[in-house]
Amino acid sequence: MRAAITGLGTAVPAQLLTNADLEARVETSDSWIVERTGIRERHIAKPDETTASLAVEAGTAAIKHAGIPPDAVDLLIVATATPEQPIPHTGAFVGEGLGLRCGSFDLQAGCAGFVYMLVVGSSMLTAGHLQHVLLIGSETLSRVIDPADRATCILFGDAAAAIVLSRSDDDGPGVLGWDLGCDGSAASLLEVRAGGSRRPATPETIAAGDQYLKMQGQEVFRRAVRAVVESAFATLEHAGVGAADVSWFVPHQANIRIIESAASRIGVAPQRTIVNIDRYGNTSAASIPLALAEAEEDGRLKPGDLVLMSGFGAGMTWGSALVEWGSL
Ligand code: COA
Repeated sequence: MRAAITGLGTAVPAQLLTNADLEARVETSDSWIVERTGIRERHIAKPDETTASLAVEAGTAAIKHAGIPPDAVDLLIVATATPEQPIPHTGAFVGEGLGLRCGSFDLQAGCAGFVYMLVVGSSMLTAGHLQHVLLIGSETLSRVIDPADRATCILFGDAAAAIVLSRSDDDGPGVLGWDLGCDGSAASLLEVRAGGSRRPATPETIAAGDQYLKMQGQEVFRRAVRAVVESAFATLEHAGVGAADVSWFVPHQANIRIIESAASRIGVAPQRTIVNIDRYGNTSAASIPLALAEAEEDGRLKPGDLVLMSGFGAGMTWGSALVEWGSL
């Protein structure tokens, strides 16, 4: 038995933040941002748009695309680094918004969250009696970004994207191989220090700006390329497939230079790499399914294609999965 992707849905806030908008806010330039990151604009949630509301919108679209009634969903997982609130989990709000009463939980693995969730969801589906699993990557990174920090405010955007995973035959489409990892010695490279058990939010933590994401960009960059390449090769080996057999590489969209460097080291041609970072920036756990949904919508992804997905993020986490695409 395999777990195949049978539906996709997205939710992108209408409000745009362009490089020109950022030029007016911090000391930066459109050419610097485009050259160093590949990003031209990002979408930013309005105050009434939240991680859960975007997730409900994306989840509704994915369920519809899969052609199943909502009550056919047997399990809901929400991958997010920007939860609706600390307690309860975001899945509680999302399940309620979708009218679900199945089990739900959140998965936090930073920007590798989508690949982690895909592996967990597919393993639960193939291990047991589940028919359909709904996986939603949803983020409102703008809520943890210091608007005055030019090193981070240029990078991140808000969005949600969802997939339905459904039971498929042994020789049908589905997840063929995967690799997950985390090097916690690098935890301080990308972090929000306050608001948790170690440093609960206080007037002092707010004054210090510790509710905001802090990042050591160069070191994250260096490790990201290595992690993606090693993880991609481990996944291909697990699946018994060579890089030349990969139809599409769908990397986490964090920086065009990371994407191009990783793709070339893995051996995937640029025209076989799905890139949409220019229009969304880094949407963390939503970025890979958002790219998948666009590539499915415009007809690039075809049944039988082998799709290699790779993510990395805070932790530092990494993960890759190879999926045989089905007919959606
Ligand atoms: N506009 C203009 N200049 C900027 C800038 C901005 N938005 N942000 C930083 N700079 C400056 C720096 O202050 C530095 O100036 P200095 O040389 O006078 O000190 C200079 O540009 C170079 O900074 P550096 O950090 O070396 O740039 P970089 O080439 O590494 O690019 C990132 C910075 C953040 C774009 C890059 O490191 C990156 O993308 N890293 C990975 C981040 C990531 O993917 N995070 C998410 C992981 S899921």
